[in-house]
Amino acid sequence: MTREVRHEATTPAVFDESDLADDGKLFICQCGLSSERPLCDGSHRATEDETEDVVYRYDADGEGRRIVEAIELSEE
Ligand code: FES
Repeated sequence: MTREVRHEATTPAVFDESDLADDGKLFICQCGLSSERPLCDGSHRATEDETEDVVYRYDADGEGRRIVEAIELSEE
């Protein structure tokens, strides 16, 4: 599967001890859906039923998704 998620952040994230989970670990979002990016907020659960070879586009608020033909890149 492929997933298109839009990001608007333009600056680096800074972490401190308050970002650590109870077990002392830091969970970084890799699905792109977290509203706490770059930290995981559990939103990755929405991807659990994604299917191989399908392209998904998620709404900016992470509340919905659509299946799209492909992610098109503009030519430079
Ligand atoms: S990995 Fe993205 S919200 Fe958890």
